[in-house]
Amino acid sequence: MSTNPIGIFDSGIGGTSIWKEIHSLLPNENTIYLADSANAPYGLKTKETITQLSVKNTEYLLEQGCKLIVVACNTATTNTISTLRNSYKIPFIGIEPAIKPAALNSKTKAIGILATKGTLTSDLFYTTTSLYAHGLKVIEQVGDGLVELIEMGKLDTEDMRALLKIYLKPMLDADIDYLVLGCTHYPYLIPLFLELLPKHIKIIDSGEAVAKQTKAVLKKNNILNLHRSISKNHFYSNGNPEILKNILGKNCDVQYLNF
Ligand code: DGL
Repeated sequence: MSTNPIGIFDSGIGGTSIWKEIHSLLPNENTIYLADSANAPYGLKTKETITQLSVKNTEYLLEQGCKLIVVACNTATTNTISTLRNSYKIPFIGIEPAIKPAALNSKTKAIGILATKGTLTSDLFYTTTSLYAHGLKVIEQVGDGLVELIEMGKLDTEDMRALLKIYLKPMLDADIDYLVLGCTHYPYLIPLFLELLPKHIKIIDSGEAVAKQTKAVLKKNNILNLHRSISKNHFYSNGNPEILKNILGKNCDVQYLNF
């Protein structure tokens, strides 16, 4: 069981930001990454549709013998993680916007959160925000259009810059000192955020925390791969595999799969 792969899925290529953190912390774990790019973005879909898609991705990863699944998508986690945990026996790791560390460390008492509509309107997001960001100014911004541009490989473009300027303006007006990236696609925009934001604003995402949590849960369940062999990492996309390949590097094994 310990050599079985870790399954990771996202609505598209964004969850590779989480795969990179997991692979760097657990380099000998075998992994299977599923990019459901044909159905991206999830962020504008209903909770029911996001659940159906997450179940479909999970079923595929289970058929491949995955020992644990990382839902590398804030939208899928905040809307479906409890359904997944209640329906299947294996452990699930989810990702949520890192509101807690931002709220605890903010000096200006104002934080910005950029995420999808699906995440920002979820019950889980509401509960976490009420718990940790009580008394703070929380500027929530839906990143409409960002995932679509990233899925097309249009990262450093004028269209992207124009959208980011609009989305960051209310946060700058509110004097935020933390920007929380609440979507796994957004870490790929960090070079642009650094260019558009004043230096004192810190940018945080949950990637590293998810990798640490994955390790802890594997350990707790006695399924950490202790074999020292080189890991096998397979990437599948039901969209354009070239875009996934560009973001991962040419040596990665990326294939088109009609799932
Ligand atoms: N990477 C997904 C997330 O973390 C993107 C959501 C989408 O497809 O809209 O929320």
